[in-house]
Amino acid sequence: PTKIILDCDPGHDDAVAILLAHGNPEIELLAVTTVAGNQTLPKVTRNALVVARVAGIADVPFAAGAERPLIREPATAPNIHGESGLDGPALPEPTIELDTRHAVDLIIETIMTHEHGTVTLVATACLTNLALAARKEPRIVDRVQRVVLMGGGVHVGNRTPVAEFNILVDPEAAHIVFSAGWPVVMVGLDLTHQALATPEVRHAIAAVGTGPARFVGALLDFYGQRYRDTQGFGAPPVHDPCAVAHVIDPTIVRAVPVPISIETTGTLTLGMTVADFRAPAPDDCRTSAALELDHERFWGLVVDALERIGDP
Ligand code: BDR
Ligand code: CA
Repeated sequence: PTKIILDCDPGHDDAVAILLAHGNPEIELLAVTTVAGNQTLPKVTRNALVVARVAGIADVPFAAGAERPLIREPATAPNIHGESGLDGPALPEPTIELDTRHAVDLIIETIMTHEHGTVTLVATACLTNLALAARKEPRIVDRVQRVVLMGGGVHVGNRTPVAEFNILVDPEAAHIVFSAGWPVVMVGLDLTHQALATPEVRHAIAAVGTGPARFVGALLDFYGQRYRDTQGFGAPPVHDPCAVAHVIDPTIVRAVPVPISIETTGTLTLGMTVADFRAPAPDDCRTSAALELDHERFWGLVVDALERIGDP
């Protein structure tokens, strides 16, 4: 299995990403770290521990990280994720304790204590923790296998016409991560807007019939309603598990190499992930963009993970 650290801000789709990473046998979840984003740091951190309880995750360290972006004012997304950051289902009391380390230190220690090139960093939130980790311990840049992140988009934005939430909230951190030199796979909106939780998908999840599957059902009820009301989606795009799915099977989430730069000074275009498709990517290109999703196999992975998790 591929060893991953999951940096997230649960968040409805982050919760599905955690469940997929825990339930899929191709993934070994080494740590879960949190960063302010969809809601404040205390809220998303508590939500991560709630998901751990629902999923029956007992032996993975969870640590809290940055409570605000590097430079800019914090911004949250209650319009999509509600006041708790995970509105919809009843949220049980967490049963595991938070690790006492800062997320940035947990990320660094985990990468430095594992064999060179064996740890993949998966980020499904603002890139503040990853940027801080790269600055605090630059050796991790060479040591990780790669970074796979949900964020950005080549042809589309969501928080603005051209910028996606995770990138826009901390564009300076995104700049650091995209230009660090480690391989970066951007699983952006071009890809995740294909990951729609259609009625057929909802039915397949409900048919699993377990507590965690009902939890996901309740999450998708709330999240689907908010995506209908705010962005006119008939079925909601479930972004974050797409990054985990790319690690599991790159033929399900297909990416192509392309140079990508982050807009940090634009007035209309702040946070845009500028992808240069004018010519074939140069041989030393370290970034790629996911463009094409196998919808059926992707949701098959999520359903399979829920089946394996069962009723913990
Ligand atoms: C991204 O922003 C967050 O609200 C979601 O959890 C996802 O990571 C989508 O733009
Ligand atoms: Ca997220």
